[in-house]
Amino acid sequence: MYQLLDGKSMSATIKEELANEVRSLTAKGLRRPHLAAILVGDDGASQTYVASKEKSSHEVGFTSSVYRYSANTSEEELLRAIEFLNDDDEVDGFIVQLPLPKHINEQHIIQAINPDKDVDGFTPVNVGRMVLGEECFVPATPMGICTLLERYNIETEGKHCVVVGRSNIVGTPMANLMSRNRKGANCTVTLCHSRTANLPAITRQADILVVAIGKPEFVTADMVKEGAVLVDVGIHRIPDESKKSGFHLCGDVKHSEVDEHCSWVTPVPGGVGPLTIVSLLQNTMKAYRRHMNL
Ligand code: GUN
Repeated sequence: MYQLLDGKSMSATIKEELANEVRSLTAKGLRRPHLAAILVGDDGASQTYVASKEKSSHEVGFTSSVYRYSANTSEEELLRAIEFLNDDDEVDGFIVQLPLPKHINEQHIIQAINPDKDVDGFTPVNVGRMVLGEECFVPATPMGICTLLERYNIETEGKHCVVVGRSNIVGTPMANLMSRNRKGANCTVTLCHSRTANLPAITRQADILVVAIGKPEFVTADMVKEGAVLVDVGIHRIPDESKKSGFHLCGDVKHSEVDEHCSWVTPVPGGVGPLTIVSLLQNTMKAYRRHMNL
């Protein structure tokens, strides 16, 4: 029988910890941490994510602001918005929700963010610091996965961690973090992607399998070793007329056949997702403490 890595309940616990921290700060007369977000265009998933970040910010007592821009906004206008937030002393950290419309160069935008306010950990400075093992902001999704593994005391040292997917946001930082010489890591890591030959033969070697490939129910039972720890980063809306909402959610793993072979599993929803948001809040608290010299 497998056990759940329950991201939903863990995120509630961590939010309570953050809320207590904010209460003790405001009791001393200090202002609240402030997280801002820039949202461009009307991509449904991005709107949902930003709304969720805003709601969670308020739940822990942070100030939250969202700057909305139309899909045809120019790169120059976005760069001005970033400069404004870089200079705003009342803003501790901010994110630019991705993806951006095609006419905007994402790298130009990310590089303009002040690394000290880059709570997504996407700027070259923070990525470089992470790879060197220096103090930095770690991207929220891999950070959330590490928190889940650590707080559930999952044994990682000397294990083979296979990461499927090489995105800048999840797979690449995840592979780096799991290979580091620290508690909750110290793994031998294999990073697989869309061009990997004989993928099932590699994923079957995984003691810890992290799937972030962005394809619904891509990982099947034949790809997983008995007793593996399974982390599913995917979340997809599948049209489903039997649901009132018109869709159901699924991950990158076919849970109906895979879960029974695992020791630990992140459910979808309620696994990695809630921890991602909480990690962003933790990064914002860290940015705030640095900014306020606390
Ligand atoms: N798009 C998908 N995930 C993320 C994230 O963690 N941060 C931002 N800014 N955009 C995203």
